[in-house]
Amino acid sequence: MNVLVAGGAGYIGSHTVKRLRAAGHAPVIYDNLSRGHRAVIDILGVPAIMADLNDRPALTEALRAHKIDTVMHFAAYAYVGESVDAPLMYYQNNVATTISVLQAMADANVDRFVFSSTCATYGNPDAVPVTESEKQLPTSPYGRSKLMVEHILKDHAAARKSFSFAALRYFNASGCAMDGTIGEDHDPETHLIPVILQSILGVKPEITVFGTDYPTPDGTNVRDYIHVDDLADAHIAAMTRLQPGEPIFCNLGTGNGFSVKEVIAAAEQVTGKKVPVKFGPRRAGDAIALYADASRAKAVLGWQAKHTDPQSIIGSAWKWFEKNPRGYAGKGAGY
Ligand SMILES: NC(=O)c1ccc[n+]([C@@H]2O[C@H](COP(=O)([O-])OP(=O)(O)OC[C@H]3O[C@@H](n4cnc5c(N)ncnc54)[C@H](O)[C@@H]3O)[C@@H](O)[C@H]2O)c1
Repeated sequence: MNVLVAGGAGYIGSHTVKRLRAAGHAPVIYDNLSRGHRAVIDILGVPAIMADLNDRPALTEALRAHKIDTVMHFAAYAYVGESVDAPLMYYQNNVATTISVLQAMADANVDRFVFSSTCATYGNPDAVPVTESEKQLPTSPYGRSKLMVEHILKDHAAARKSFSFAALRYFNASGCAMDGTIGEDHDPETHLIPVILQSILGVKPEITVFGTDYPTPDGTNVRDYIHVDDLADAHIAAMTRLQPGEPIFCNLGTGNGFSVKEVIAAAEQVTGKKVPVKFGPRRAGDAIALYADASRAKAVLGWQAKHTDPQSIIGSAWKWFEKNPRGYAGKGAGY
């Protein structure tokens, strides 16, 4: 299929482009590079349009010119803390921009849509593992922006009978391409595994563990780390199952939770190096434990995570960070 990957120069989008191509599809990147990387476009070597998704004429033209069948929509802002400080920016780029994308798709008669949702739409769930029927009470503008889009998609699909969609609620995306060619690079980097590895490499002074008195076996938060290639494969599975009138809502996780201390220990095992750790107080708003019930994704998408141990995920990230401690910024002039 011809797939427009909105946000394809970002972390999860770029890995999905790579997996789409490996699976015989024809991905086209569409990205304004506000938070993505020119270097990854060059490395992937696929057609790319550098424009904003709110530029409706440019997007409609791209959809038509590349005969797009499906849009995968990764483009968004995705920092919880930033969303608290700048909620309008989040509602503008995550909600209003998505409406503009749906309008451009209708103009170009493109009716298949895969959306990056998040476990942040659940807020602090009552129970783990989290099932899709858990109440959705997000605790940040970021989480609310994603839940709003889920509602918009339902309403749009009810009105436009030819439209089909999947909303995939990711847990903690992690790891890098297994061949080390592309990887994770956010600025600022807040994700646990990159911060651990950059602390080992001296790019960051240390990693701060926020809270050691949580009611978990070792007192630190527990999360579900899902490899980015597994996420990408779930998108491809969802894309091939899209049907009008049958919206897909699925958690994407491994179904296992690992604590911060367990991830640090796994990183030391993989790298053979000591992680410089500082212990700090709890951070406001952090849930105690969040991991997915992944059974619906298996039943509906025929998909389950292949990388289920932290060593495998960290090993793939180490391959990237050892060579690119500062991410794409270390790739030379122009990047
Ligand atoms: N990383 C995670 O752990 C995680 C977890 C749950 C959900 N998600 C969701 O997955 C998606 C991808 O996350 P990521 O970590 O790859 O983010 P990212 O910031 O690396 O990538 C997002 C990309 O979208 C582009 N973009 C943003 N706004 C745009 C616009 N208006 N027009 C064109 N391009 C635009 C950015 O330049 C960037 O390349 C996001 O929607 C995020 O909310 C991520």
